[in-house]
Amino acid sequence: MKKKTVLDFTEMKVKGEQVAWITAYDYPTALFGEQAGMDMLLVGDSLGMLVMGYDSTIPVTMEDCLAHCQSVRRGAPNTWIIGDMPFGSYQTTDSDAVKNAVRFIKEADVDCIKLEGGQRVASRIKAITDAGILVMGHIGLTPQSSGQLGGFKAQGRDVKNAREVIKDALAVEAAGAFSLLVEAVPPEVTAFIAKKLSIPVYSIGAGPCDGQLLISGDMLGQFKIFTPKFVKQYADIASVTVDAFKAYIEDVKSGAFPTDEHVYHIIEPEDEFEKLFKEFG
Ligand code: KIV
Repeated sequence: MKKKTVLDFTEMKVKGEQVAWITAYDYPTALFGEQAGMDMLLVGDSLGMLVMGYDSTIPVTMEDCLAHCQSVRRGAPNTWIIGDMPFGSYQTTDSDAVKNAVRFIKEADVDCIKLEGGQRVASRIKAITDAGILVMGHIGLTPQSSGQLGGFKAQGRDVKNAREVIKDALAVEAAGAFSLLVEAVPPEVTAFIAKKLSIPVYSIGAGPCDGQLLISGDMLGQFKIFTPKFVKQYADIASVTVDAFKAYIEDVKSGAFPTDEHVYHIIEPEDEFEKLFKEFG
């Protein structure tokens, strides 16, 4: 499979071809994602909740993100990978934002970075873009600022709020982002934004546009703490895993595992081994 470039994503928008992507945090998911033909993989800071067991994305560090991006790159060498900038890595200054974005590129070999926010992070997007790094914007429900939003709540549902979401989208494009992710916004608003912007606009829980993202743990039925309305579940990995673990425990306790097929056999006559065991009494 040939790795896509930024030009492919722009062309896909023009041709009306959908981009399908998921989050990945580890080597096996990346490997399977690439085998399946995912257009992109996002190493989201949602790894804090999906993989590390935090109850928000706030505690996730640059080091956490870089390590997971490195694992994903090893699993998917030919797939476009997005590094997600964690809380605290770009909120302070443009210069901190550039330094941390550079780390994603140099240390984790990602293809672009994503950061949350619209008008208020326009100078960060411009500074990172000016440093030669591709930026994906992320507006609507932005989990890192869910406290300010009053929780994990859909955005743009009334005209006043939709106006802000549209202004955010315009600000992200004007600042130089190559694409935009819109989260948990009504499809009417998303469709308007996707038509208005010339950069590709992707959705997570925001209806049809230029492509769709789902969190891998949600669509695989692995993360059961809460499942947003917009998730379509394609597997139930949690049940498959628990059932497999239970069957293994039963086999171990009953002696059904291991059997002859699971052991390495001796390669010298048995009496030689008898002599060896005798040596030790
Ligand atoms: O971290 C993540 O997975 C994200 C998605 C919620 C869009 O940013």
